[in-house]
Amino acid sequence: MGGEQEKWVLMVTARTPTNIAVIKYWGKRDETLILPINDSISVTLDPSHLCTTTTVSVSPSFDQDRMWLNGKEISLQGGRFQSCLREIRARAQDVEDKKKGVCIKKEDWQKLHLHIASYNNFPTAAGLASSAAGLACLVFSLAKLMNLKEDNSQLSAIARQGSGSACRSLYGGFVKWDMGKEDNGSDSLAIQLADEKHWDELVIIIAVVSARQKETSSTSGMRDTVETSALIQHRAKEVVPKRVVQMEEAIQNRDFPSFARLACTDSNQFHAVCLDTYPPIFYMNDTSHRIISCVEKWNRAEGTPQVAYTFDAGPNAVMIARNRKTAALLLQRLLYNFPPQSDTNLDSYIIGDKSILKDAG
Ligand code: ADP
Ligand code: DP6
Ligand code: CO
Repeated sequence: MGGEQEKWVLMVTARTPTNIAVIKYWGKRDETLILPINDSISVTLDPSHLCTTTTVSVSPSFDQDRMWLNGKEISLQGGRFQSCLREIRARAQDVEDKKKGVCIKKEDWQKLHLHIASYNNFPTAAGLASSAAGLACLVFSLAKLMNLKEDNSQLSAIARQGSGSACRSLYGGFVKWDMGKEDNGSDSLAIQLADEKHWDELVIIIAVVSARQKETSSTSGMRDTVETSALIQHRAKEVVPKRVVQMEEAIQNRDFPSFARLACTDSNQFHAVCLDTYPPIFYMNDTSHRIISCVEKWNRAEGTPQVAYTFDAGPNAVMIARNRKTAALLLQRLLYNFPPQSDTNLDSYIIGDKSILKDAG
C-alpha cells in the first residue's frame, strides 16, 4: 500500500437469491449472536427472479465504511452489520492484484475502509426475505474481496449474525438451518439437504399482495412473540422438531402430499403464533386469506394436494406447484380470481423455479 497506489480501488460483485422457509424460523434464544429456538428448512429461489446484487469495494482513499441500499445511504452502525464486518475482517487473507500493482496484507484489512452498494430486485422489508438475500450477499461478496478460506457453511454462520434467515441463502436447493447446541453459535449453521436438481419439477409462483414495507420487522415481531406468546414454546419444543424430521423425509422422497401438508400447516401455525403475540401481529391480510382458501378448495377437490402455500412475515403468498402443468392451472385460477392491479389489491406475480445454483456464487 502507499504512494501512487493510493488511487486504486478493488471491487467484487456478487448476486445471491432469496430463500423461503417451509418450516419457519421464528424466535431467538440469543439476540446478539442470532441463535434460533428451533431448526428451520427452506427452499432457495432462482436468482434470476428474486435476488440481491451487491458490490463491495476497498480503497485507501475511503475514510470510513459506507453502505447504500437501493441507492439510498444507510447506516452501518447497527450491531448486525458490525458483527458481520468484524467476523469477516478477522478471517481476511492477503490479497494481490498484479495488474493494479496492489498487495494488501491480512493486517491491512483492519485499517482499510469499505464502500458497499446493494440492490434488491424485489420489494425490501415486505415479507419476501430481503434480509436473507441481502445479508448473505454482503457476507459472500466481502468474503471474496478479502479472500477468505472459509467454506459456505462457515460463511453461513457469519451471515446468520446479520439476519438469521440469511444463513440459508448460502446454498441452493433445500437447506436446513441447524439451530445448534453451543452457546457461542459455532454449530448454528446451514446444511444443504438436497441440491437444486433433486426435485426439479416443482415450480414456485409468488403473488405480491403488497410490496409495501411491513409495519413490524421480523426482528421485533419475533422478539415480542418470545416475550408474550405461550404457544411459541409448544411450537418450538413439541411441533417443529417432529415436522423437521418429516419434512426432510418428504424432500428426500419427493413426497409432494407430505411436503405440502407440512409447509401449509407450518405457515399457518407461524401466523397463529403471531396472533398469539401481545399485542397481536397481523402479517397476512384479506387477500392472503382468500388465496389460502382458493388453494385449499382446489387441493380438496383434487383429492391430493396440487399446490403448497407459505407466507413469511408479510401478506405475500409463495406457492409451490407440484409440476409445470399444475403451475399453469394455478396461474389461470389466480389470474381469474385475483387479477393484478385490480381492486383485489394484488400487485404482481413472479414465477420461477427453485434455485439453479449450486451455491450462492
Ligand atoms: P424481509 O421480510 O424483507 O426479510 P426484514 O424485516 O426481515 O424483512 O428485514 C428487512 C431489513 O433487512 C431491511 O430494513 C434492511 O435493514 C435489511 N436489508 C434488506 N435488504 C438488504 C440488502 N440488500 N443489504 C443489506 N441489508 C438489507
Ligand atoms: C418469517 O431472518 O428476517 O421469514 O434474524 O431478526 O433478521 P432476523 O429475522 P429474519 O426472520 C425470518 C422469519 C421468517 C421465517 C424464516 O425465514 O424462516
Ligand atoms: Co427477513
